[in-house]
Amino acid sequence: MSAAETGAELQEFRRASRALVDGVADHLVALPSRPVWQPLPDALRERLLGLPLPEGGAALDDLVATALRDVLPHAMGNGHPAFFGWVNSPPSLAGIAASLASAAMNPSVVAGDHADVHLERAVVRWLAELVGFPHAPGGGLLTSGASAATIVCLAGARGRALARVGHDVRRDGLAGAPRLVVYVPAEAHSCVRRALELLGLGSGAMREVPLDAGRLDAAALRDAIAADRANGAVPALLVGSAGTVNTGAIDPLDALADVAAAEDLWFHVDGAYGAFGVLDPAIAPRFRGMERADSLALDPHKWLGVPVDAGCALVRQGDDLRDAFSLIPPYLRQDTDASVGTFAEYGPEQTRPFRALKTWATIAARGRAGLSAQVTRANQRARELAALIEGEPELELAARPETSIVAFRAHPAGCSPARLDDVNRVLPEAVQARGRAFLTGTVFGGRETLRACILHPDTGTEHLATLVAEVVATAHELTRG
Ligand SMILES: Cc1ncc(COP(=O)(O)O)c(C=O)c1O
Repeated sequence: MSAAETGAELQEFRRASRALVDGVADHLVALPSRPVWQPLPDALRERLLGLPLPEGGAALDDLVATALRDVLPHAMGNGHPAFFGWVNSPPSLAGIAASLASAAMNPSVVAGDHADVHLERAVVRWLAELVGFPHAPGGGLLTSGASAATIVCLAGARGRALARVGHDVRRDGLAGAPRLVVYVPAEAHSCVRRALELLGLGSGAMREVPLDAGRLDAAALRDAIAADRANGAVPALLVGSAGTVNTGAIDPLDALADVAAAEDLWFHVDGAYGAFGVLDPAIAPRFRGMERADSLALDPHKWLGVPVDAGCALVRQGDDLRDAFSLIPPYLRQDTDASVGTFAEYGPEQTRPFRALKTWATIAARGRAGLSAQVTRANQRARELAALIEGEPELELAARPETSIVAFRAHPAGCSPARLDDVNRVLPEAVQARGRAFLTGTVFGGRETLRACILHPDTGTEHLATLVAEVVATAHELTRG
């Protein structure tokens, strides 16, 4: 900070930031009584898109006023308890406050004796402890999200599989390497495929894991693995989901882990959304096997409510990541505990933001018991919503919820079967536009499907009732129209 910024400017910072904190708190108080989401007024959208680059500087007070007036009220909607879209939670208050402090420190969290480095190591360990994953120092790092965590984990898997057949992928790339094969359930999140594409393995390397109604046909999977081996390919990786994005279903992780162990495959679990579901004692046994994974992708910025961005890659053996990523040119040398090294040796980021403070604050503010209660309540609400849907003649469940995602469809009276898919496809955006509830759609089992994901700690029975009423009313409108 320059000397000029220390006197009057810091006073302005104090004043403007207090106004900002008050404005943010007012915004949060007003949120539940406002529409969940509304399109931006045309004039404001145009103004934001066309903002000219300012020649001179503006006062911080004015910037705060502009942000409070033009930006905060026009949010995505995930702060509202009737927001059920995608997998987006409201930010925790502790996380919001911590974001200011972490920006004030502004470190690059790589290595060294500063608090952010030690805090990230502790927070990664906390996350592992929360979901019951084994952890040793170096066994993970925070990332921008689960997509990035998946790339990190699968890079470890790729490196290990190729090293075993004597191929150095870091030196030689994939040229001359045998074809790696990966076994991925049909309901796996698209980030798995994207990671495989980015890592040069190609989506053509994917084989579908034979799952039927949540049960693994282990014999069929092992036959497929044997056939791939017989064809000269190298089976390398098996993926499972601890909570699918479409329906929140938990794959049979223990059975998958058995096959991975027997076949010597890297077992990766996508726990981005659902792994924290293990905190609900009623369903914790369903996650058995997650602790046997070689890698686990988590998203504290989903169910825990850490402000975006906060993902996490956990690995059983940190050296797998270090082997894949460590590259230390002289200008980046830092004295570190050589046994663990720097965070930059475990992933693709060099300058790394301070994601740990908001994650620490969010977890610490509620504790394991508070988070467990929050997760358990969300799952209960999902079961409540499923019951409301079953009691509504014009709706049907697409899958019984295992966690806090409810997949369902509308079949309004008077709508011909041929039009049902069309109605369900356009329904989410039509509901969103009405402003009382927000849900999104997907395709599940080959059919257009609605999905409601419950992550907001304040989502109550009244919000579930609003959602159901809005979907039914909107479906009628669309059928008539
Ligand atoms: C099951 C699952 N995996 C992975 C992801 C990707 O996570 P991110 O958006 O944090 O990259 C998501 C996102 O919704 C998800 O639901």
